[in-house]
Amino acid sequence: MGRNLASMQARCDGLGVALRPHVKTHKCVEIGRMQRDLGARGITVATLEEARAFAEDGFDDITWAFPAILSRVPEAREIAARATLRLIVDSRVAIEALERDGFPHHVWLEVDCGDHRSGVDPGAPEAIALAHALADSRSLVFDGILTHAGHSYAAPDHAGRLAVARQERDVMTALADRLRREGLAVDAISVGSTPGMTAVDHLDGVTEARPGNYAYFDATQVALGACAPGDCALTVLASVVSSSRDHAVVDAGALALSKDVGRGNGGRPSMGRLFEDPGSAALREDARLISLSQEHGVVDAPLAVGSRVRILPNHSCLANACFDHVHAVRGEDVVDGWRVRRER
Ligand SMILES: Cc1ncc(COP(=O)(O)O)c(C=O)c1O
Repeated sequence: MGRNLASMQARCDGLGVALRPHVKTHKCVEIGRMQRDLGARGITVATLEEARAFAEDGFDDITWAFPAILSRVPEAREIAARATLRLIVDSRVAIEALERDGFPHHVWLEVDCGDHRSGVDPGAPEAIALAHALADSRSLVFDGILTHAGHSYAAPDHAGRLAVARQERDVMTALADRLRREGLAVDAISVGSTPGMTAVDHLDGVTEARPGNYAYFDATQVALGACAPGDCALTVLASVVSSSRDHAVVDAGALALSKDVGRGNGGRPSMGRLFEDPGSAALREDARLISLSQEHGVVDAPLAVGSRVRILPNHSCLANACFDHVHAVRGEDVVDGWRVRRER
């Protein structure tokens, strides 16, 4: 993990953008402190609990990169009393609700650069109108434009990830240019996902990046070619509890790994991979998790009852959020334990 944190910081430094890591991957203030010590400028959160926990720990520049939940604006205001909390919006309804709140909320305009999850269509007149509404607001502070190219996860290979990352960058810089021609000041352009950041060639015109998964990586990133198995830092240690001629059961089911189906892992469906042995950086080809129920994980090979296996989850962010604590391991030693701020 330490290597991953340092190499993404070096990558952002080399690309000339600030790194605002998404801490939803780990939800641990201890890891956030390491990211800050390495040079991160601000953090990104997915939940108000993450915002609250990190603000209490002294993080003073936080983007809540989730469309503002209007029923929870009073909580956001409380957090904003101790840290700069930046909200994101993609609708007039949300802008008007934040204005009615009367607080000088910092607000990003969220843009859809091609993922089609949330964000305003950059080609629609609405994008210009909403940017104007934020920039001209008497109470709100317009921070800039933000996007997340989640479709980088559907890219088939490195060339595909690079194409999505370029699209994300180019859509955002073109929109910023249009807004500037309209007379609006666009101080910041925020992009970034782990598959995109590990592939992109340049980020000229962009000011910051928000990758998160790179801290841990996972089986999905291995399948995408964004990392090697040995880069993966979050694993779930499980015990074999039953075994028959052709399969075994471990005590890590959906509530330890999530039901994320990942990326097919070389054409074979997989709900998680196994490392060769607890110390190894190589993944087993002869055995993988093929199905998960709540607490049972089914492996498609017999394993010795009572032995332990180290599982690489398909999605480390979701697996991490299944646990109250993570054990920090160096070599064979557990050196620390960190709380996962998984409340919402
Ligand atoms: C809005 C937003 N920004 C940034 C990220 C970070 O992306 P990744 O985990 O691929 O690095 C995510 C992840 O889902 C996200 O939803």
